[in-house]
Amino acid sequence: MRVGVLTGGGDCPGLNAVIRAIVRKGVQEYGYEFTGFRDGWHGPLEGDTVPLDIPAVRGILPRGGTILGSSRTNPLKVENGVRRVKDNLAKYEVDALVAIGGEDTLGVATALSDDYGVPCVGVPKTIDNDLAATDYTFGFDTAVNIATEAIDRLHTTAESHMRVLVVEVMGRHAGWIALHSGLAGGANAILIPEQRFDLDQVCAWVESRFKIRYAPIVVVAEGAMPKDGDMVLKDQTLDSFGHVRLSGVGEWLAKEIERRTGKEARTTVLGHVQRGGTPSAFDRWLATRFGLHAIDAVRDRDWGKMVALRGTEIVRVPLRDATAQLKTVDPRLYTEAGVFFG
Ligand code: F6P
Repeated sequence: MRVGVLTGGGDCPGLNAVIRAIVRKGVQEYGYEFTGFRDGWHGPLEGDTVPLDIPAVRGILPRGGTILGSSRTNPLKVENGVRRVKDNLAKYEVDALVAIGGEDTLGVATALSDDYGVPCVGVPKTIDNDLAATDYTFGFDTAVNIATEAIDRLHTTAESHMRVLVVEVMGRHAGWIALHSGLAGGANAILIPEQRFDLDQVCAWVESRFKIRYAPIVVVAEGAMPKDGDMVLKDQTLDSFGHVRLSGVGEWLAKEIERRTGKEARTTVLGHVQRGGTPSAFDRWLATRFGLHAIDAVRDRDWGKMVALRGTEIVRVPLRDATAQLKTVDPRLYTEAGVFFG
């Protein structure tokens, strides 16, 4: 058996830990050989490969990023894309593919597996934690830790100057990073895409914080939207999966708060810092277990499945279910956090 492995979409801490676990177990226990495909779906589309064996995965467990590279290439949007992928799999004698990715990458794996008979197994990854069917994706815990550390630091500088500090975090259309880091970092307002925010209310929270001589920290998810108005975007260009680049709401919010309250406000956009660097211990643990179970799914020829975390168990679920809908923040969780606002 020769197994192809690829990592697609936005990178995240823990990808290398998955690759290592797949290769270690696949070689040591099942005697498999591997082919690495470079840069997500670009690899099988263009026949761009990289050797993948035990020496190639030595020392990568704590490394951020992905040794295979990543991209947002969508072979379903390229002329003859599926045929080219199939031809390259045949050319490199690849019998099965493990696709490690988020909604987009796994959406392609679902179509290839269910509609075109390509033997695929999926591994969920994204810092956004927005994939249904799994309790957590690896990368999320690291991103939340990075954002929390930033919020901790911003508290002290905000207090020295008695300013408002707005922290914009990633997460696309889900508020998981904002909610978890905002709670962990003691933010005075957390704004998430799932609940449109009222600017008057945010300003009232800001002012009540100043009244007790503390400087407010407002955590805003990049996909959050005001009650009256649209999503604030700096850039309208679409990627090959049809997504716009989010970001811009943090800057806009700080200006609005300053204008309405007369208090000085600054914005920190954490951006790709949240995706970089070494994975947390939790993410290494989760990514490693996902890798071990993914190669077991290959051994069982259980195609069209994704590994998922349910409680502390790793289970297999249909890939189609995993990408069918986004996992967004439950309103009850958001309400629960409200006691700390203002
Ligand atoms: O999906 C992960 C993510 O980091 C989102 O939180 C963010 O909106 C997007 O990717 C950024 O994408 P890019 O790496 O293309 O700038």
